[in-house]
Parts: sequence; C-alpha cells; structure tokens
Amino acid sequence: METQDQVNVMPRIGDKAPSFTAKTTQGDINFPEDYKGKWVILFSHPADFTPVCTSEFMTFASMQKEFDELNTQLVGLSVDGLYSHIAWLRTIKEKIEYKGMKNVEVTFPLIEDITMNVAKKYGMIQPNENTTQAVRAVFVIDPKGVVRTVLYYPIAMGRNFDELKRIVVGLQTSDAYGVALPADWRPGDDVIVPTAGSCGVAQERMESTDEDQTCYDWFFCTRKLAKEKVEALKVK
Ligand code: BEZ
Repeated sequence: METQDQVNVMPRIGDKAPSFTAKTTQGDINFPEDYKGKWVILFSHPADFTPVCTSEFMTFASMQKEFDELNTQLVGLSVDGLYSHIAWLRTIKEKIEYKGMKNVEVTFPLIEDITMNVAKKYGMIQPNENTTQAVRAVFVIDPKGVVRTVLYYPIAMGRNFDELKRIVVGLQTSDAYGVALPADWRPGDDVIVPTAGSCGVAQERMESTDEDQTCYDWFFCTRKLAKEKVEALKVK
C-alpha cells in the first residue's frame, strides 16, 4: 500500500533521478537510462487542452533547436492519456497561432501518466494545490542522471523558458570552468572565483594583479569569462 510519503516524494538536488518506464508520444522510454550522456529537462504540466500549458508547449517547442545545441533533451509529462496528448499536439500544430508562433510541432516526448506513477515519484502532485493534476514541475538532470535543479510553479503561472535555458547554460558553464555564477548571470558576464579554503590564499588572491580578476572583498572575487568560451560548450 502507498504511504503518504510516497505520494509526496520530491527528488532533491544531488539525488539520482528516480527511474521509470513510460509510454510517450515518441514511443516507450526507460528514464533516465535512455538519455545517458545528455542533459534532460523533465517537466510536468497540469492538463492537455488548457491555455497556459498550450502557451508553454508552443514556447518550449519553438526553442527546440536551442536546446539541441545544449545537448539537452526535453521530456514533458501530464496525467492525461496518450490519445489526449496526440490530439492536443495535433491541434497546436494545425490550429493555434500565438505570438508569432504557428505550425509548431512538438517533437520531444510527452509522457502519459494516467496512473500518476511518475508524477508521484517526482513530487508533481501537490494535493493542497490540486489532487488530480500535476503542478508545473521542472527537473534539470545532468548527463550522469543526477538532479541538478528543481523548480515547482503553481498551476496558474506559466514558466519562463528563457530562465530554464539560462539554468542549463549556467550549469554547463559552472561544470566546465569550475566557477560559480552571480545573480542574473548571462554568458559574457563576469563569473565568481570559488572562495579558497585558507586566509593566506584569499589574501594572495586579493592582491593579485591579474587584470581579468576583480575582488570586492576576500570572500568575493570575480573574473572575466568570454561569451565565446561559454558558446564553445555548445554542440556543433
Ligand atoms: C492552463 O494550463 O491553462 C490550466 C491548467 C489547469 C487548470 C487551469 C488552467
């Protein structure tokens, strides 16, 4: 029997992404195994044939090429069935023109989760918000299958897809160059040099004549990281 805890499990940053098999609009998947070596954005929406979700799918699908360049697989989920998913995506492609987007084809997999098996593993059902629909959850998972970012949005609020892209670019940059990223960082902005372990090293860094580095105090130093170096991480 299912306990309340199992219903409300929320994977945390640093956890292995919970595994599952599922039917999707692009065939069966074995998650996260099938996406080993890729970044993944697993996201849920409350229901097919609803306006906020439609605006989100059109926006996300329109950014497909940008996510391909980031070696990032998009995977959607709702607790609707496969035929509903297929009919909704067909309606989007054939009928909806919104904010200059039209003929939008969703080519990433959309999971059917009528049993809520996956939604429950990922804490997507938040009963005080809604007992029968998933909230707008987002999990950014790295190529080793580790959860790196978790976001939950309420049902009434569409997500900012530019921010989701910024998160993936930021994580890839942080991993590749061993840096942290300040508030509102964008490629080309200065990055944060991780604080060194000892006072002596921090003092040395403060006194550095490296023109690419700026120290605001012993615990807060930034350095330049050219936009080209961030863009070099893209898949060619
Ligand atoms: C929407 O995406 O627009 C929506 C989803 C669930 C309930 C109400 C609206």
